[in-house]
Amino acid sequence: MTLETVHIPTAPTQSLRQLENILLSKKRTRDIASALMKIHDELAAREFPDLQYTDYLRQKHVENNIETYLEVGVRWGDALRLANAGCQAVGVDPEFDIKHPLLADPTLFGMLSDDFFFEYSEEYRNTFELIFLDGLHEARQTAKDIYHALEVLKEGGEILVHDAMPISLAVSTPTQQTRFWTGNVWQAAYAFSSSEFPWKWEYVPAYPSGLFKLYNIDPDFKPSRSRIMNRVAEASNMKFANAPALLSFLKAL
Ligand SMILES: C[S@@+](CC[C@H](N)C(=O)[O-])C[C@H]1O[C@@H](n2cnc3c(N)ncnc32)[C@H](O)[C@@H]1O
Repeated sequence: MTLETVHIPTAPTQSLRQLENILLSKKRTRDIASALMKIHDELAAREFPDLQYTDYLRQKHVENNIETYLEVGVRWGDALRLANAGCQAVGVDPEFDIKHPLLADPTLFGMLSDDFFFEYSEEYRNTFELIFLDGLHEARQTAKDIYHALEVLKEGGEILVHDAMPISLAVSTPTQQTRFWTGNVWQAAYAFSSSEFPWKWEYVPAYPSGLFKLYNIDPDFKPSRSRIMNRVAEASNMKFANAPALLSFLKAL
């Protein structure tokens, strides 16, 4: 099987996964990287056919009339632009570069999430009805972001974490090796998916890489940092034969 003999949009999923493995074993040229991106995008479209993450967020903003919103990892504003006009929106990203007109008039902090939470958690305590975490896609950093988000979440609010459901093991490496990349965010989501904690969680199958939602959170509870990091470590030691096995595991949590 070669790239030339496989028509990506119509090939059976199994053939796409075989071709992915073949391409991963080759030297990464620009053509290989671009073919891998097409395969990953097609796998994501098949895994999450019904919902885009932006549609899910838009619906949240509109139906729940979100008035206070925090986004970590803003980049071009694809998600930030969904915040309602008049919403008190806050964005955090050391390299934001807004390319879209925004409805809200956000306060933007050009800094790392750790610095933002260190400097502003007290000021924003119990503030945000919706928090969208989409910063560094590394498990320990994402776990820290969720942990800190709990401090500024408004009572009754929700935390959404992007990239929690990787469609390929190759895209879930802690450092980026493919253009389509979720990182190992799923390990941070796993850390918070335990009935020992007083909250509910849900994995939302949204294109391109799933969302993890934390809600019904007891505002007086603070998890132990070491317990959370131990669960991240536990997840990082797990071995999965392939992405479908990992996704089934997450969906069953
Ligand atoms: C995938 S993009 C965010 C996309 C955006 N949320 C959207 O939906 O269009 C990830 C962004 O996270 C930012 N980022 C990386 N590490 C970060 C950190 N530690 N704290 C805050 N932002 C970070 C990057 O600069 C990048 O712009």
